[in-house]
Amino acid sequence: MTPLEYPPGPHSILPNKLFRQFMRDPIKTLTDIANTYGNICHFKFGRQHIYLLNNPDYIEGILIRDHKNFVKSRGLQVSKRLLGEGLVTSEGEYHDRQRRLIQPTFHPNRIKGYGDIMTSHAERMQERWEDGSTLDIHKEMMHVTSEIISKAVLGSDIKAKEDEVGVALQTCMEYFNRLQMPFGELIEKIPILPINKGYQSAKKKLDSIVYYMIKEHRDNESKGVCHKEDREIWPKDRYLNKPTDVMAIQDLLYTLTQAQDTEAGIGRMTDLQLKDEVMTIFLAGHETTSNALTWTFYLLSQHPTVDDRLYAELSSVLGDRIPTVEDIPKLEYTEKVFRESMRLYPPAWTLGRRVINDYKVDKYVIPAGSIVLMSQYVMHHDSRYFSDPDVFYPDRWTKEARLHLPRFSYFPFGGGIRGCVGEPFAWMEGILLLATICRHWKMHHDRDHKVGLKPLITLRPKYGMRMKLESRV
Ligand code: HEM
Repeated sequence: MTPLEYPPGPHSILPNKLFRQFMRDPIKTLTDIANTYGNICHFKFGRQHIYLLNNPDYIEGILIRDHKNFVKSRGLQVSKRLLGEGLVTSEGEYHDRQRRLIQPTFHPNRIKGYGDIMTSHAERMQERWEDGSTLDIHKEMMHVTSEIISKAVLGSDIKAKEDEVGVALQTCMEYFNRLQMPFGELIEKIPILPINKGYQSAKKKLDSIVYYMIKEHRDNESKGVCHKEDREIWPKDRYLNKPTDVMAIQDLLYTLTQAQDTEAGIGRMTDLQLKDEVMTIFLAGHETTSNALTWTFYLLSQHPTVDDRLYAELSSVLGDRIPTVEDIPKLEYTEKVFRESMRLYPPAWTLGRRVINDYKVDKYVIPAGSIVLMSQYVMHHDSRYFSDPDVFYPDRWTKEARLHLPRFSYFPFGGGIRGCVGEPFAWMEGILLLATICRHWKMHHDRDHKVGLKPLITLRPKYGMRMKLESRV
């Protein structure tokens, strides 16, 4: 047998030097490796072989063409304790069946009704903001996106428990992020730590609320009570002080309880399955969007001409109205700004997969058990696909440019059967929140406050993001 030929990559005689470098600054480490060694790079962390792929076609092979030959990496085992067998953590046939059930509930036409939830929560948040005040916009975004996702999933019946759900969700998210950090799993081994107690009670609270809501949906159904579509559930005047104009929407939990695929012989979900999927959507469905929005506000504060153009578009399309889902196709520049911001600061900055069977890429064989890394951050800053890759330039997103870019040179939402199921929700929320907020406020970054990247599972701003607010009116 001929010995395995490894692609080029960094090799150090000092054990774990590279790993330490990676832990200190994973983004710089991967970027340097990609810039030095090219499309396919190899290195080792301890005994683990790692392959970094920096070519859109290779990435497409892993995520689409040959996706069955890959599973997610080991870190997921930790996440399973919180998310059970939800979409993010499940694998194989079980995952694909669940995905088949859940994907249609996120179809753009079916989530349209959540547009008003998004804008009314954003409006309510801004009622607390004052001209000239300084606040941490990242905290604000985390708060508002967690409110939006709980409302969209659980619907109006959760009104009384809205704040409890928000707080519990944040506690779980913090815990989840801590567990992903080096040696994070040790935290779990010391049950008396306050963080463990806090997490246990937050998880219990969320579980019980979700189970209660599932039971309510099931009871209503068995009693033949008409569901939300036929009832008044979201009086718009609650936050907007307008005469009541009642809109009918179905909450996501309801659509999930109803989901089935008779053609494929997939029946409705059990309570446990529903609970796992709801917890997954809660957690996957807000931190990414809040990071994307935070980085967008930061970029706007650094590029006043882009900010002016964005405001001009909002003024001409909306006048003094609150945006609606119908406005989204007209908010072209707003969409480009959000797209370009996710290029420079991709909220999910890297994807990892473990190889099941030996896998051929170019002239190399990647052995079973190896880890394959594909980094959105690295690809999105690659000058082969984006000229002046570090420059914030929303106008680069012309129709022609989009047509000619290889599919996996820009992939903030991943792709294929494991790509982001919430992508339509995220675009809608990103654009509507940007529009709702920027039509009122110009933001100035507090120069005394540092800006840095904190690449956990998502790309957070390391020191938060302090902004001084200037009212536009
Ligand atoms: C800007 C916002 C968002 C970004 C950048 C983002 C990014 C991603 C990425 C890259 C993946 C694939 C991970 C992988 O392949 O390993 C993913 C998966 C997922 N996302 Fe998102 N996401 C966002 C918002 C949302 C929202 C709003 C929801 C739900 C409401 C959501 C729910 C999910 C779920 C359930 C999965 C797992 C899908 C599966 O494996 O079948 N995400 N997301």
